[in-house]
Parts: sequence; C-alpha cells; structure tokens
Amino acid sequence: MPFSIFLLSLFVFSLHIAASEADFYENCEITWGDERAKILNGGQLLTLSLDKASGSGFQSKQEFLFGRFDLQMKLVPGNSAGTVTTFYLSSQGPTHDEIDFEFLGNLSGDPYVVHTNVFTQGKGNREQQFYLWFDPTKAFHTYSIVWNRQHIIFLVDNIPIRVFNNLEAAGIAFPNKQPMRIYSSLWNADDWATRGGLIKTNWTQGPFTASYRNFNADACVWSSQSSCDSESTNSLQKSAWQDQALDASGRNRLRWVQKKYMIYNYCTDFKRFSEGLPPECKRSRFL
Ligand SMILES: *[C@@H]1O[C@H](CO)[C@@H](O)[C@H](O)[C@H]1NC(C)=O
Ligand SMILES: *[C@@H]1O[C@H](CO)[C@@H](O)[C@H](O)[C@H]1NC(C)=O
Repeated sequence: MPFSIFLLSLFVFSLHIAASEADFYENCEITWGDERAKILNGGQLLTLSLDKASGSGFQSKQEFLFGRFDLQMKLVPGNSAGTVTTFYLSSQGPTHDEIDFEFLGNLSGDPYVVHTNVFTQGKGNREQQFYLWFDPTKAFHTYSIVWNRQHIIFLVDNIPIRVFNNLEAAGIAFPNKQPMRIYSSLWNADDWATRGGLIKTNWTQGPFTASYRNFNADACVWSSQSSCDSESTNSLQKSAWQDQALDASGRNRLRWVQKKYMIYNYCTDFKRFSEGLPPECKRSRFL
C-alpha cells in the first residue's frame, strides 16, 4: 500500500486501540456510595465499602466495543455472607448486552461463589457458578474478560473458566454492536445470594470492603458504530486479544476448572429448562 495510507492506518489504529493502565482517577469514576468508594495511592488503589445504609460502585469513563479487561481484586474478608462484589461489562437500554462476574460472599471459612452470566439483546439466564481454587480474600487475584468478535472468555489468574462462542450463524445473538462500559460494585444481596436468602448479612461485622488495583483495558474505545465494528485494523498491528481463543492448554485448563470447580451450569439444568435447553447449550463443546 502507498506509504501515506500506511501512515494513515497507523494513525487510525492508534485512535482506536487504547491500553488504559492502572490509574483509577484517569479511567474510572465513582458513581454511587459517596465516601464509601475511595481512590487511594495516587490512583493505584480503589476500595469499595458496604454498610447498612448503602453499597458503592464505579464505572469506566469510556465505552468499548471488544477488548481485554483485567482487574485485580481482593474480596471482602471474614464473614461476607450476603455481600456481592461485581465486575462486569454492560451496554445500556432494554436490549442490552452484559458480561458478568459476581462474587457471592459467605460465612467465614465457607467458600465464595463466582457467579457468571452473559446477556445478549436483553436476554440472560445463562448462569454458570464456580468455587475458586484459592481464598480470594487473602490476596489480589486477576479477573479478566476477553471479548472479541468470536468469543467471550472469562479468566481467573489467566485460567479460562468459561467461554461463550459466537454462534450467530446458528441464530444465537452475540454482543457485537453495542458498546459497553466496565462497572464494579459492592452491594447487599442477602435476599438471594446466600442460597436463596438463607443467611442474612451480619451488619455488626461491617463495613465490608473490597479492594481493586491494576485496572487494564486493552480495548477498542468506542466513538461511533463504525469505529470498532469494521476490520479496519491492520493485521500486523493486531492486539493479542483480537484473535484470542483457547489453544490446547487453555482447553485443558477450562476442562479442569469445569470438572473440579463448577457448581452450577444452566446448560445442564433440565429441570429449569424442561421445555428444552437454550440452543447454544447443544452447540458448545464446553458446557
Ligand atoms: C457458602 O458455603 C456453603 C457451605 O460450604 C456452600 O454450600 C455455598 O455454596 C457457599 N456459597 C454461598 C453463596 O452460599
Ligand atoms: C453477628 O456478628 C456478631 C459479632 O461478631 C456476633 O456476635 C453475632 O452472633 C453475629 N450474628 C449472627 C446472627 O450470626
């Protein structure tokens, strides 16, 4: 290609793909909870708290269409039963798309549940739940969402725990038109998150606090429908996430997680879907 067009595509590329690193002041805004949400250490650390009056939350300033989103989190320690800490991507409106990580607290010594879901065109009901292979309250661990044209991959410390494939060819909606923002919150859900409300949040143990660091969005920043929609990026300049899929070792790790740590899978809930499982369940090699 002519050199000027090459330069132009470099320029366009640099507008589209942003890697925003770490600084919470620069990349995020606190959206609710007043002083319960705090940005500390010059933007390197963010904490959310929950007390009897309110939870708290933040969101990314920018919207994205495809990308890799990483966040290190240290979850509420001790008796966290009834609390829910979230990290998710979502678009707006009644037919919104959403990709969810939710961490359901538990009594001291009992395991957290990682609850995941994928909404397309306003339709969810695609829950999968997992235990973790470590205590998520003792140290920071990395939770990631890879979202490209072909796959959504949920990762914990870079180990894939769930994949949602693009099956548009089979008539199943896939999120690829609506830009999404990153959201995170800490709130009280003791009406459902403790096995249907079995255990109530013990407010005398509050305030409950979760910590965040190393926020990273290696993603296409949305500015118009065409800005991230087209294959405008030069293949030489592609970021790893754009083609990211599971290789053989990724598939092995996913099988390991699903065999040992998965505790709920909507795709095997025949009682709930007595009229027939959702169509993607029959087509996914990995349930
Ligand atoms: C809490 O711990 C109990 C007992 O180990 C377990 O059955 C449950 O799945 C855990 N998670 C939640 C959210 O209740
Ligand atoms: C709540 O926590 C307090 C302080 O640790 C404890 O004394 C109390 O028994 C707990 N309440 C319930 C219902 O478990």
